[in-house]
Amino acid sequence: MENKQRGQFGSSFGFIMAAVGSAVGLGNLWGFPYKMGKGGGFAFLFLYLIFVVTVGFIIMLGELAIGRKAKMDAVGSYKSIDKKAGFVGGLGVFAAFVILSFYCVLGGWVLKYAITFIGEMFGAGFGGVAGADYFVAFITGTTEPILWFALFLGISCFIVLAGVEKGIEKYSKIMMPALFVMLIVIIIRSVTLPGAVEGLKFMFKPDFSVFSSFESTVAVAGTALAQMFFSLSLGMGAMLTYGSYLGKDENLQKSALIIPILDTLIAILAGCAIMPAVFAFGLDPSAGPGLMFITLKEVFASMPMGSFFGFLFFVLVFFAAVTSSISLLEVICAYFIDSKKMKRKNVTMMAGLAVFILGIPVALSQGMLSGVRPIMGMDILDSFDFIAEYTLMPLGALFMCYFVGWKWGAKTITDEVASSGYPFKLKGYFSFMIKWVTPLLVAFVLYSACISPIVKYFAGGGQ
Ligand code: PHE
Repeated sequence: MENKQRGQFGSSFGFIMAAVGSAVGLGNLWGFPYKMGKGGGFAFLFLYLIFVVTVGFIIMLGELAIGRKAKMDAVGSYKSIDKKAGFVGGLGVFAAFVILSFYCVLGGWVLKYAITFIGEMFGAGFGGVAGADYFVAFITGTTEPILWFALFLGISCFIVLAGVEKGIEKYSKIMMPALFVMLIVIIIRSVTLPGAVEGLKFMFKPDFSVFSSFESTVAVAGTALAQMFFSLSLGMGAMLTYGSYLGKDENLQKSALIIPILDTLIAILAGCAIMPAVFAFGLDPSAGPGLMFITLKEVFASMPMGSFFGFLFFVLVFFAAVTSSISLLEVICAYFIDSKKMKRKNVTMMAGLAVFILGIPVALSQGMLSGVRPIMGMDILDSFDFIAEYTLMPLGALFMCYFVGWKWGAKTITDEVASSGYPFKLKGYFSFMIKWVTPLLVAFVLYSACISPIVKYFAGGGQ
């Protein structure tokens, strides 16, 4: 019997928007363009696409199918198939807490910039302070980073509180198409700036010299694969949980192809929006938050109608971030609702409070707590990111490959996919990959992004 209490997506389009919303986030907007430029342009894209096909598609389909088969949260789903596998879901719920605690802090920064750009349109925004000074003063503060973090988290809770169809689906259906339109407007603005073409060259130059040595190939491959994991929200139960809200008639094979395609497309388009503008103003395309909050702020400051475009851009980033954070929050909420039989309202408030408490040290990690360096000399924010992105997510995916490919047999999953009645053309491919190729590649990320740096760190005497 189907559990009537559980939410369900109202339409296939709504589900795709929610899943693409989960995938498209800060990872696409500030990770991808830079890594692509640095990692050899087309060479990086080429590797990335290979990993989407060999790893992304397989894990995505596996997660969607496990969720839809069991119609439970991550822990309950694994458990219902195999009593011993519940811990894989548990790792996912834990990862969701860790990711949320830093993701919502970053989301808070984005929100602050979106609102400040509104002020800027009316002459009361950044107050003429230079990009870097403004940013550093803000993130090293105490009250402001916590307040904006709380606001972003509060908005995420508000959406999740309304449920799957009336919350997650409804907002994703508005925000994702809006994001797309805003992205196009910003690309048009960006590529028509004088000198913009250099930015496109930076991203797309086909530089296959990264393949010239084994070491650099491995390094770029590791970056591309880890980036893909985070960007596609894999290995921690987000796609599994969304899959559990799908009806039996959904074509999972098609979804597992469309979601990565749209995610990659938006990552490339994000690069086309950001890099041309950065180069047009002769600025440095360096990585991470700095690119978005310092460099781009300078770009908007010197652009005609810059405050308006700045506002538009940060609203876009906010939409991307919030549709990702609700999927993280839903992993936690689904667990307490399904497995612990609690009410959505109570769970959302409790989870929100727990994330808030966990996130306070992250919000303070650039200022008051900048001396606290829990892992390999990294501050609290980077340490949390490291635990989630480079440890918990690949580990979760590896366990999934083990259970599906080796313990249960791929048939448990391929039968579920085929049960919709659509031809499952990639069945043989899926069964082979999940047993042999995908786990090897995932183990490679775990090794190159997690184990090897730790070993090197300790071998170097903690330097
Ligand atoms: N995919 C999101 C991004 O690219 C992050 C995310 C990871 C969301 C894991 C949900 C689960 O920003």
